[in-house]
Amino acid sequence: MTENLAAATHRVDTAPGLFVCFEGGDGAGKSTQVRLLTDALERRGREVVVTRQPGGTPLGAQIRELVLHGDHVAARAEALLFAADKAHHVDQLIKPALRAGSVVITDRYVDSSVTYQGAGRELGRDEITALQHWAVGGLLPDLTIVLDVSPEVGRERRGDVQDRLEAEADAFHAAVRRGYLEIAATDPERYLVLDASQPVERLQAAVIDGVDRVMAARR
Ligand code: TYD
Repeated sequence: MTENLAAATHRVDTAPGLFVCFEGGDGAGKSTQVRLLTDALERRGREVVVTRQPGGTPLGAQIRELVLHGDHVAARAEALLFAADKAHHVDQLIKPALRAGSVVITDRYVDSSVTYQGAGRELGRDEITALQHWAVGGLLPDLTIVLDVSPEVGRERRGDVQDRLEAEADAFHAAVRRGYLEIAATDPERYLVLDASQPVERLQAAVIDGVDRVMAARR
């Protein structure tokens, strides 16, 4: 069922912008690659809007506090809060930016929930996929770059300060990692999986190659 859902809901509008998403386990180095890609595209004169989930809007920032730094949240409530953040975010920020022709780069999107809530929390991949796609009205990225990291390396890189999800055991993060690799395998055109343990510059070159390929295909 997951494959059918993924196939049924690619980009739903004809916005002139480009939508790129970074995904991966905690400690994969997404923020660094988001920054490097932004710099590279801005040097080429592109308008780039950088955002992250949860967060990215004032309401999203409040949801982020509740879901990452608050007290215990029941698993299904957690899934709905992440979905609410995305629904608002797409409506208020991502769609307008794409319509204006910007490149939107988001640090995490629907696949974070499919892996963390669907696989990690065991709420069901298909159910969470359906919930997330409903929340974002079927708007999916042109390219999702998965920075693949093992639970051990991720834990080392995160250090001591951890949010509610990061603090989960390695088995949780292993399920998240498997989730990403399975999703990416269903659609190699829209996913690029990169080994996050390689040097930052090599990783950046592979990211830019991937984005250039998608840009060329859309021309
Ligand atoms: P992130 O912003 O990458 O954390 P940090 O700012 O510490 O680098 O991600 C926040 C956490 O939220 C991360 O552990 C993954 C989790 N998450 C979900 O569980 N579901 C979701 O839908 C999203 C967007 C994030």
